Amino acid sequence: MKICVMPGDGIGREIVAQALRVLDKVGAKFGRKFETQEALIGGVAIDATGSPLPEETLRLCKAADAVLLGAVGGPKWDTIDPSIRPERGLLGIRKELGLFANLRPASLFPELRHACYLRPDIVAKGIDLLVVRELTGGAYFGTPKGVEVRGGERVGFNNMIYFEHEIRRIAKVGFEAAKKRRKKLCSVDKANVLDVSRLWREVVIEVSKDYPDIELSHMYVDNAAMQLVRDPSQFDVIVTENLFGDILSDEASVITGSIGMLPSASVGEGNPGLFEPIHGSAPDIAGQNKANPLATILSVAMLLRYSVSDMDAEAAAIETAVQKTLQQGYRTGDIREEGCKLLGCVEMADAVLANL
Ligand code: IPM
Ligand code: MG
Repeated sequence: MKICVMPGDGIGREIVAQALRVLDKVGAKFGRKFETQEALIGGVAIDATGSPLPEETLRLCKAADAVLLGAVGGPKWDTIDPSIRPERGLLGIRKELGLFANLRPASLFPELRHACYLRPDIVAKGIDLLVVRELTGGAYFGTPKGVEVRGGERVGFNNMIYFEHEIRRIAKVGFEAAKKRRKKLCSVDKANVLDVSRLWREVVIEVSKDYPDIELSHMYVDNAAMQLVRDPSQFDVIVTENLFGDILSDEASVITGSIGMLPSASVGEGNPGLFEPIHGSAPDIAGQNKANPLATILSVAMLLRYSVSDMDAEAAAIETAVQKTLQQGYRTGDIREEGCKLLGCVEMADAVLANL
């Protein structure tokens, strides 16, 4: 299996290095051969080539079976021309590879329940949900967009636009995901205000006819934001458009208390998928061996599960090793608690390797 590896910026390089050690060990244990090839994206790519997504990176990604990404962005590039910001690299690769579906599981590791921000009685009901976020449409990519001067003042605008085929295909991903889980799908929109959301809801209802055994509900995004902290146990799969999904997936992840723990997968049709931790580049702790490598290690598990049909056992082995490591009381700074064994990034990966 060929994997294109893009460490990116900030803590990206350190966490990806640890995840690759885990990948190596899985290969040795299960007799699999993983060939990795490194490519530039984000700020490091800007520094080296002037572009956040060089042609060469795109070529390497397309030639791979899967892509593993660390993180992009940092203060160094905050004042750069917006058209070549590091984030452009990430948006560009999603669009170029047609990765329209972003799967962001947020679940509470029982070992980390003290790290959870919600009241114990809410936590006791459990959190195990999946945000299916549309990733290549909506306001992120819609045109017209820009900032210009009209009538002597500046005006800024973006366009939240969806074609029905875009809604239909992400709705299908949502229903299929729900089928493999607790069979509940909540579609989040703002149909009481936005026309684009009215179409969203109509198309989701049309798609639901093919999934009679999935319980479909609809929720306005403001209410969904509230319900996520009030009672997250009510959710199984949430399907929503790009910008709403960006916001809700951060909220869903942080209520588990462990944004440093959560992996994600971005998939499309006919191109390799892209797998990355959902946290960012954390420039404040970069290069200090403090970052939590577990989200990236778990992203490798997702990569194996979603990119090839028969690597469930390999993926599960990684997930079990991570869980064991937590049970043993090992923690990085972001999930530290009283009486835990505090580890750095490398040592945390050592512990996972030992359990593997
Ligand atoms: C995410 C991030 C990105 C997004 C940024 C870095 C462009 O917030 O993956 O959620 O907005 O999609
Ligand atoms: Mg985000």
